[in-house]
Amino acid sequence: MNLITKIAGREFESYTLNASVPRASTLDELKQIGQSDSAAIMMKSCTIKKRKGNPLPRIFKLPLGYFNSEGLPNLGYKTYLEFIPKLKKYNKPIIVSVAGFSVDEYKILVKAFQESEVDLIEINLSCPNIDNKTEPIAYNLKKTEEVLKEISYLGKKPIGLKLPPYPYYSIQQKIANLIKKYSVSFLSCVNTLGNSLIIDEIKERSVIKATRGFGGLSGQYIKPIALGNVRRFYELLKGKVSIMGMGGVKTGQDVFEFLLAGADAVQIGTAFVEEGVSCFQRINKELKSILRKKGYSSISKARGKLKIS
Ligand code: SIN
Repeated sequence: MNLITKIAGREFESYTLNASVPRASTLDELKQIGQSDSAAIMMKSCTIKKRKGNPLPRIFKLPLGYFNSEGLPNLGYKTYLEFIPKLKKYNKPIIVSVAGFSVDEYKILVKAFQESEVDLIEINLSCPNIDNKTEPIAYNLKKTEEVLKEISYLGKKPIGLKLPPYPYYSIQQKIANLIKKYSVSFLSCVNTLGNSLIIDEIKERSVIKATRGFGGLSGQYIKPIALGNVRRFYELLKGKVSIMGMGGVKTGQDVFEFLLAGADAVQIGTAFVEEGVSCFQRINKELKSILRKKGYSSISKARGKLKIS
């Protein structure tokens, strides 16, 4: 059985790929992903200028995931532009993830990658770790539309949005309307749950220093809200916009749940950080075994097939 799927019309050899995490920052790391069973090469979100990221400590391992306030450490978009030709030999889709600090910055970033050989452009509108003053853009409809208005006609390559977890249906409906209006081709759904706080009660301290102890929660803690967001957007967009689910995917069973909810592919963050590139082969194998046992002959046969009790 194969796990072939499509994102924004591009064929993906399998259903799992890496999420845009710090382990996808350097050329060596991206080459390792290229050589692995990851369906695509997703790069760490890049900004106009190289960034060191937030002060340390900024990441903390939890029993079921991670808590971080990395602050978008990356090599700067020009370096990622240079990486693209060097990654082409792996014959899999290359996805850039861009993060701007203003509409103009998003414009510069998207234009540059529209003119490159990258396959898909993910617009990260959801990093919660920049400061404690402003919300991630995707929580602000006006700002989201301002960005989309400026970037959606800059070229022919499919653009997608990396969205935060939304706890309300009404905002998902409004975001879905913008997605339709500006012909967004795919979603990465969901980023970490921002404004979280983990406390070490013995030391009576926050476990990270960055952003005054607040950060984004990931891993299995956020799987239910990630599944909820994937399902809502699948229903709202009637399966016409590709959705890459993410949040707490550790096993083939987790992946199968995202598939039932309507995801076209699944990005793996925490398990990739912990286990390295071997996670894709393991999880794909587990998924195949579940599909076989349940009598599904392909990804498309099971996609969105959630039954409501
Ligand atoms: C970070 O670099 O702080 C996390 C990336 C993200 O949330 O998009």
